[in-house]
Amino acid sequence: MKDMHDMNTSLLEVANLSVTLHTAKTSVQPVDNVSYSVKAGEVLAIVGESGSGKTIMNMAPLGLLPAGVDSEMSGSVRFEGQDLLSAGNGKLRQVRGGEIGVIFQDPLSALNPVRRIGRQIAEISERHLGLTTKQAEKKVAELLALVGLPDPLSRMQQFPHELSGGMRQRVGIAMSLAGEPKLLIADEPTTALDVTVQAQIVELLKDLQKRLRMAIVVITHDFGVVSGMANKVAVMYAGRLSELGSVDDVLLDPVHPYTRGLLKSVPSLDSEIGSEFIGLPGHPPDLSRRIDGCPFAPRCFAALESCREHRPPLLPVPHSAAARVVACPVVLNSHAEAV
Ligand SMILES: Nc1ncnc2c1ncn2[C@@H]1O[C@H](COP(=O)(O)OP(=O)(O)O)[C@@H](O)[C@H]1O
Ligand SMILES: [Mg+2]
Repeated sequence: MKDMHDMNTSLLEVANLSVTLHTAKTSVQPVDNVSYSVKAGEVLAIVGESGSGKTIMNMAPLGLLPAGVDSEMSGSVRFEGQDLLSAGNGKLRQVRGGEIGVIFQDPLSALNPVRRIGRQIAEISERHLGLTTKQAEKKVAELLALVGLPDPLSRMQQFPHELSGGMRQRVGIAMSLAGEPKLLIADEPTTALDVTVQAQIVELLKDLQKRLRMAIVVITHDFGVVSGMANKVAVMYAGRLSELGSVDDVLLDPVHPYTRGLLKSVPSLDSEIGSEFIGLPGHPPDLSRRIDGCPFAPRCFAALESCREHRPPLLPVPHSAAARVVACPVVLNSHAEAV
């Protein structure tokens, strides 16, 4: 099944995905009718302020939800043709770690604090690749060397708290690779790290992507990561895509006012909601309230009265590649005239 999949079709095909979260207190809809795809070997970056729905959009279909939260999903998320939204728990367990590897912002969330790191990684290779204990241990040593952990044989014997943040993230990356996935989902893999360590981890991810030719979905605040490793970029705002296209098109000629605002802003180290892009005034909306018009309208320099009434559809950008879409008819018209 794995190898019979046509290489020309998408590895991951997300169509009209909506996610509603229910907690004991409220319901919110952090993902609202989103569509995108990732081909084998392709790197898609997802950018947008905190609270836009980036994590939920990627994790909910894999069955990875925050504690105490239930989800309701519609649309489809096909991985190699198979819909994950209708897959049972057994199938999802097989996909997670096996066909799709996940790197978390905080590597500690993926690691068991009371177990040696070598064993934790080995178990993934045993479960997903059917390796024996001996084979898996050899693979762990190779993986730890691959992610640049010095002295892998003695590191395997250590516990997570014995490692620095950067080393832990290297272990997290090794873990995500242990099942030889075709797709990696990296959720802000460097946000929790010191700036110098961030650069090292970005270099590592770039190098791994080239060597292993995996597809990657990387959620990031760092346009250096976008331009350095991605082919495509999706800009997400209030649960919707505002712009999607090739990295060259979007970074060199951003169309949506939100994309322009993000590109003009300066990333901050503050992790408070909506505060990581300095210079973009205002805050993202509260997603527990229904939004009829464009969710960005209250912050937008180009907004017209009509923007607050109707939800802007994603439309293709004239004179550019078919895959480029923008959810802003106002700016799209003036952009088309300017070209
Ligand atoms: N644990 C949670 N409980 C309730 N709502 C949540 C939880 N996590 C996320 N949400 C809701 O989903 C929205 C999107 O969250 P998330 O996907 O984590 O955003 P991002 O990854 O873009 O920062 C949040 O703004 C919030 O409304
Ligand atoms: Mg997130």
